[in-house]
Amino acid sequence: MIDIIVIGSGGAGLSAALSAKKKGKNVLVISKTYPTHSQTCQAQGGINAVLSSTKDDSIENYFNDTYKASHKLGKKEHIEFFCSNSADTINWLDSIAVAFSRDEDGNISQRKFGGTKAKRTCYSSDYTGLKILHTLYDQCLKENISFQDESMLLDLVVEKNIVKGVIIYNLLTGDIKQIESKAVILAGGGYAGVYTGFTTNSYATTGDCIAIAYKAGSKISNMEFVQFHPTALENKNILISESARGEGGYLVDEDENRFVDELKPRDEVARAIFTKNLEGKKVYLDLRHLGLEKINETMPQERRLVQEFMKLNMESDLIPINPSSHYSMGGILTQLNTKTSIKNLYACGECSQSGVHGANRLGGNSLLEIVMFGKVAGEEASKNTKEDFVGISNDKLKVVKEKIENLFESNNYIDFYSIKKELGRLMFENVGLFREEKKLKTALAKIEEFQNSIKNIGIKDKNKIYNKNLTDYLELENMLIVSQMIVNSALNRKESRGAHYRVDFKDENQSFDKNSIILFKNGVQNFFFEEIK
Ligand code: FUM
Repeated sequence: MIDIIVIGSGGAGLSAALSAKKKGKNVLVISKTYPTHSQTCQAQGGINAVLSSTKDDSIENYFNDTYKASHKLGKKEHIEFFCSNSADTINWLDSIAVAFSRDEDGNISQRKFGGTKAKRTCYSSDYTGLKILHTLYDQCLKENISFQDESMLLDLVVEKNIVKGVIIYNLLTGDIKQIESKAVILAGGGYAGVYTGFTTNSYATTGDCIAIAYKAGSKISNMEFVQFHPTALENKNILISESARGEGGYLVDEDENRFVDELKPRDEVARAIFTKNLEGKKVYLDLRHLGLEKINETMPQERRLVQEFMKLNMESDLIPINPSSHYSMGGILTQLNTKTSIKNLYACGECSQSGVHGANRLGGNSLLEIVMFGKVAGEEASKNTKEDFVGISNDKLKVVKEKIENLFESNNYIDFYSIKKELGRLMFENVGLFREEKKLKTALAKIEEFQNSIKNIGIKDKNKIYNKNLTDYLELENMLIVSQMIVNSALNRKESRGAHYRVDFKDENQSFDKNSIILFKNGVQNFFFEEIK
């Protein structure tokens, strides 16, 4: 029998799988794509830590920066744990051979990122996430961890608030099966991808784990907080890392004047840029003064992306950029030990609301979070596998199979791909960097309309094998659930805080120093605010 199922094979899932395997557990990693395809590689610029070699910094400084950026929605105990364990996490990554860039003394190099007091972001050129991901995957292969790729999570099997396994769809065979396990770790990524056409995220980032945990009755929190990265290539959604500004790059307007402190937290920088965009003005990243040698050394990938997608050179041209949805702070609410509100169900990485980021995440904190809390999840879930397992007694599998069969049998096809595109634009325009009640209500009504229109439809492709049409449909269902939660939370949070900016409630209001919570119970969605204890 499988002890632990891990859903997702990005940095969080692989770290969880490795630490559970080290505890001697039988682990299966199930992934919708392939391990090296995850969103982790989009965190190009680095991973934060206070190392013994870090100059002019302290755990206290790191705590203060992270808490300040969270706008009081971070949980102090969690942030303390996070900052205090940062060096150990980097040292562990170093020990498994992540190729960090180093200074002339052989210490891991660190650069400055936004919202921080010190050069705290460790990096591997501008491939940090990618290097971490590949190294973790190598380690998993070395440990003979089992993988089932191209398999999508359809449901969690939960009885009396205890998770007992998962139901998955295998794209390669078309089979739908139930797999029992003593614990399940959700590590399937965030939901910034619902802003289709306006996001740096891959097509796979559709919030599946969050939508499914929600339906299973797990507490979901702070969904209104979506981070827009200030610098994506204009109209291309290709990320240009914060490291470009960390290394000294400027943001300039059409007259080549700087108009914002480039190293403010992302929410403030992104809003300053978008304000110009709303006035019909362009904004540029100016790196010309850095020179080719420095650019090649510190941001070779970005230079290549600019050449490929814009036909421009960083060392000689101004690079047009605009903000793009990049990261989601909300998700499945977890305790410090990554437990969710369902027994034996854990969550880590971007699908979780771990209490670290609050209303706004600092650049470089996501890679640290996925590795650190991934390891915690693997260790904690391993503890639970000692209990006797009482098998699954409900018929959820039958219900899920019937639903999929109906999709194959019905000929009532509608073009749901256009809905996906429309949803992306709706979210960007009505639930983007600036929000207001009227537009949020319009978005909510439209999402409900989309949800009704895709009920009872059929899929066009009737093949059982490799039916991408089916997974696309299932993803859209999840995206709509997640989008509804974002809008509902944004409507209820009648204030501005971090990444959530309401033009009709411009100030932070201390009566909202609370987490927003969504709980699905007895077929009804409940929304409330909860103290951060
Ligand atoms: O800008 C970046 O390199 C992205 C980093 C992050 O999201 O942490």
